[in-house]
Amino acid sequence: MRTPLIAANWKMHKTLEEAVSFVSRFAVLAPERKIETVICPAFVHLAAVGEACRKNGIKLGAQNLFWEAAGAFTGEVSPPMLKDLGVDYVIIGHSERREHFAETDQQISRKVKAAFQFDLVPILCVGETLEQRRANRTMEVIAGQVSTALHGLNAASVRKMVIAYEPVWAIGSGLSAAGSDAGAAGKRIRAVIGEMFSLEAADAVRILYGGSVQAENIADFLRETEIDGALVGGASLAADSFARLVSRAQEAVTV
Ligand code: PGA
Repeated sequence: MRTPLIAANWKMHKTLEEAVSFVSRFAVLAPERKIETVICPAFVHLAAVGEACRKNGIKLGAQNLFWEAAGAFTGEVSPPMLKDLGVDYVIIGHSERREHFAETDQQISRKVKAAFQFDLVPILCVGETLEQRRANRTMEVIAGQVSTALHGLNAASVRKMVIAYEPVWAIGSGLSAAGSDAGAAGKRIRAVIGEMFSLEAADAVRILYGGSVQAENIADFLRETEIDGALVGGASLAADSFARLVSRAQEAVTV
């Protein structure tokens, strides 16, 4: 049994005050959670948001990390620094990092390894661009991103990770993928992991869908047997819309 997971990716949003008050408001609006809930604020808010999350049974995630533990890497944040702040999860390879900061699959692979080394659970993001989709290359692109990112790991690590299928064209666009597209992507991701590691690891990995997820469509994704939750951007920014989404998700997984 895989525990459903909903993760909020706040990207570069919110002041410190907004970030902390979100958590207390969300906890009032969604007090009973069977679903694992993760909030990923900006680095500078991790300590304060983490404290509020711990009091309310919410897990803490970072949006990125660097692969070295320490050193002369101005502006970067290392895995042990995140661990020290009580971070549980770390988003790696988000399409905005790939696009605006030119992150490559090889760099993403180093980051995934570094996360495991310091006992952080990676939320690895993969997904095709609109151009790749139109060229019928979706499955090939996803399989390539997953196999490069996971190269050199072992089944015992891989089974713990989270992979978010996020079609680039669906992120922040209001155009989500169909539930069946997410399901097919999830199936392909498990097939790649099954070939590279083991069927047990393939079955244990949690796969999220991300890209314009809202309260109104979350059930379409959770209905898919291969999809275990969602990575949510826009709809995670207001406590009431995120609480609504989490409560719809909860209804969907208990049906
Ligand atoms: P969105 O973002 O929900 O605003 O589409 C998702 C993401 O970037 O993870």
